[in-house]
Amino acid sequence: MKDTQNASTSGDDPGEILNKCRAWSENTFENAVVMPSELYTSEAIAALERTAIFSKEWICVGREEQVPNSGDFFTATVNEYPLIIVRDKDGTLLAHANICRHRGMRLAEGSGNTKVFSCPYHAWTYNLNGSLRGAPFMQDVAGFDARSVRLPEVRLECWQGFIYVCLDRDADRLAPRLEGLVGKMAESSVDKLELVFLDTVEYACNWKVLLENFCESYHLFCVHRETLEPMSPTKKVKVLNGSDGWNLHRLDYNPHDGVDAHTGYIAAVYPNHAISFGGKTGLLWITPTPLAVDRTRVTLGVSSAPDIDGGGIGEAFRKKSREFVAEFLSEDKEIIEAVQKNLPVFEPTQPYCDKERTNWEFGQYLVKRLLAEAAQ
Ligand code: FES
Ligand SMILES: [Fe+2]
Repeated sequence: MKDTQNASTSGDDPGEILNKCRAWSENTFENAVVMPSELYTSEAIAALERTAIFSKEWICVGREEQVPNSGDFFTATVNEYPLIIVRDKDGTLLAHANICRHRGMRLAEGSGNTKVFSCPYHAWTYNLNGSLRGAPFMQDVAGFDARSVRLPEVRLECWQGFIYVCLDRDADRLAPRLEGLVGKMAESSVDKLELVFLDTVEYACNWKVLLENFCESYHLFCVHRETLEPMSPTKKVKVLNGSDGWNLHRLDYNPHDGVDAHTGYIAAVYPNHAISFGGKTGLLWITPTPLAVDRTRVTLGVSSAPDIDGGGIGEAFRKKSREFVAEFLSEDKEIIEAVQKNLPVFEPTQPYCDKERTNWEFGQYLVKRLLAEAAQ
């Protein structure tokens, strides 16, 4: 146990926490204990994550099947920066700032299909490609040049049907970093799926508590005894070698609900995208996004092969799938929110289980990024 005075003061000293993290990261997996608790509770670390990670890395905002047609769009927020993801006339996906050039109003909300984005404030309009289309009463204004006005564009890359954006113009491309994962995904054809459902859920925990929970299947036999364990037994879970950009573990699925026995995988694409895939039918993914040090918004999506029910994805399948996911996520929610409550006074002393090496790998990635940012 920490003494409570230390627990409340050390949480705000980033230098001290980073020193602890450096010492943590110098241990091999075999010698490591679980990560310093302050990483999940300190406001200073949360602020550092914003500059070191969320403003620099490729962040998943959704799937291509959410926007199949020209004019389809949805909004997203990355590191508090509001975005419109839209499919242009020629089929290209673009990410624009969701900020009117005139006086900063938001242009779009939610999702839909449109030909133009029209500002609710003074009705400036923008084409799908972000160029200005019209600006009422502005034609005679000195210094106004309609042709030079366009929405700021943010980098966007599609990978395996996922849409990622990056706020850093100088970041390396995403795809090369994920090459080692593509082979595993190929047999599930995850780039050619249809959306089953999409949800947003909030949890009272740090975003990393949630990500780490998704990226270890050590807890299945205990937390998901009747939901997941019967289909993918913990004893068959095996962590595979990851890389600088991702981690991966394997599960062996028993036959269930008309699905044959198959091998499945759960991958984390750093920083905050976790993907469960395998067999020929499905994909479940989450993107935990920090709202506060102890509050996380999760976008959760399930996609399937279009012919899952022999003729498109039916309502019955959507409903069943949504209910099943909600059931096991409520099992997770209870645990991870209780863990978060204890973290301010929890002192790590114990090693990881082999089936949690994914989380040690994630920690190595995280600490490296935080230390590099702090050193600048
Ligand atoms: S703020 Fe958009 S038109 Fe004025
Ligand atoms: Fe779980």
